[in-house]
Amino acid sequence: MKIFVYSASLREQSVNLKLSKLIAKVAEANGAEVDFARMNDFDMPMYNFDDQGSSGIPAGAQALADRITAADGMILTSPEYNWLPPATIKNAVDWLSRMQPMPLDRKSILLSSATPSLVGGVRGLMSLRTAYEALGTWVYPKMFTLAQAPGAFNDDGTLTYSFIESVQAMHPFYIIRFLGGLLFLVGTLVMVYNLFKTVVGSKPVIAPIPLPAAAN
Ligand SMILES: Cc1cc2nc3c(=O)[nH]c(=O)nc-3n(C[C@H](O)[C@H](O)[C@H](O)COP(=O)(O)O)c2cc1C
Repeated sequence: MKIFVYSASLREQSVNLKLSKLIAKVAEANGAEVDFARMNDFDMPMYNFDDQGSSGIPAGAQALADRITAADGMILTSPEYNWLPPATIKNAVDWLSRMQPMPLDRKSILLSSATPSLVGGVRGLMSLRTAYEALGTWVYPKMFTLAQAPGAFNDDGTLTYSFIESVQAMHPFYIIRFLGGLLFLVGTLVMVYNLFKTVVGSKPVIAPIPLPAAAN
């Protein structure tokens, strides 16, 4: 399966670029053939109906369409600008939507985003998915957003935090917790056993009640 992985950010130190590189590695490790790109590779003017009429589709938009057409599916990473996708990707989608055949039609896409915020770029992705869905693209229902992205990458491009690694790192603490819990359970059982033996083993004692001494 050929996956076209691309990032909508133009920035050199882009966190979305980092995320898309990581996604490409994971996809390759899982057997996909990856075609990797970033929006800088597809230079195109802002969409203008008149320009399209006079000059046709720009070379950058056509190049993007060709890469999409050659792939079985796409994974896009996009920044969020003011709760919306950046103009780069919206403009590209506008150009693509004017082509015949339309390259986004019935193509699968997984949307993802990285932002410094605590919520990731989910708001931007929601509107981006609306545009793709309007064009007949099959947008994967779940989207991946990486929150607090600037501190999320190691120098080698891996994530500083990953669920699996954190569980592995917590192993010694899980063992200590388990031993503590076991000690508590054993203590409770000993107490219950003592209580049981006290109740069962107790015998009534008939103690003579001394008579009061007679008064002189
Ligand atoms: C014009 C502008 C608007 C932004 N709006 C948002 C926003 O709505 N939500 C958010 O989480 N971050 C916002 N940011 C911060 C970006 O998420 C941050 O700059 C991020 O690093 C951009 O992605 P990149 O590193 O892949 O280029 C905005 C940044 C800019 C320049």
